[in-house]
Amino acid sequence: AGSTTTLTGTATPLIVAHRGASGYAPENTLVAADEAARLNTEWVEVDVQRTKDHKLILMHDTTLARTTNAAAVFPDRAPWNVADFTSREIARLDAGSWFGDEFVAERVPTLGQFLHRLTANGQKLLLEIKSPELYPGVERQILRVLDDAGWLEEEYPGERVVLQSFSADSVRTVHEQAPEVKTGFLGTPKVAELPAYAEFSDQIGPRYTDLTAEYVAAIQAVDGVHGEPLEVNAWTINDGPTAARIAGLGVDGIITNFPDVVREAIGG
Ligand code: G3P
Ligand code: CA
Repeated sequence: AGSTTTLTGTATPLIVAHRGASGYAPENTLVAADEAARLNTEWVEVDVQRTKDHKLILMHDTTLARTTNAAAVFPDRAPWNVADFTSREIARLDAGSWFGDEFVAERVPTLGQFLHRLTANGQKLLLEIKSPELYPGVERQILRVLDDAGWLEEEYPGERVVLQSFSADSVRTVHEQAPEVKTGFLGTPKVAELPAYAEFSDQIGPRYTDLTAEYVAAIQAVDGVHGEPLEVNAWTINDGPTAARIAGLGVDGIITNFPDVVREAIGG
């Protein structure tokens, strides 16, 4: 699962657009998903957080400072924490100009808006629950938004959506609240600890610099919580030679800002 088999029998890793195709468009926006679609990339990784009025939005940093014009619009609200702004306030922000003038109209999407766009584009979602310790109860809210948008209707929704986090507690919470949902733990667990993570995870997502062929094989030798071998998603690989080397280690997925560059290097 999670990879395709070529005529030569070699598994080609799945390519995942990191924060959307964020090498070409502002991260965590609708246009970043569109750009991934234009590059024939089905799977899109984005980060979800929660506003002051408890709406779910896409944002990587826990502040709005880097990827919006919040500092200009709200000069007296430093450090511009996501959790200190209402969804109405965030909806006023420009989330594109920092990346390029042509993206001036881009807004911070809600999770619901983003799901709608992925549905229209026929894309799939690797959703990172970012800094869940700041947002108690966020897992149940995410599951509700996914369900309301029709993303959890399948008996096994994992063909279309995976929830992942650097927080093992958050991944475990997702699994307890919705056991059918496919999950991933971000990090590099010790081999001896893998079975414990496999009690609530289907995937392990290490930084690519942590990987060896032996470690990848050790992860895949453990069955995940849904009974399939744990999958390995490596992040974030943005050049062809590195992608080819990491694909050669046998990973299941490669997370990249430049899906076309990785595809050119590894096929798929
Ligand atoms: O999907 C994993 C990767 O996105 C984790 O790193 O900082 O880009 O969220 P970061
Ligand atoms: Ca992420």
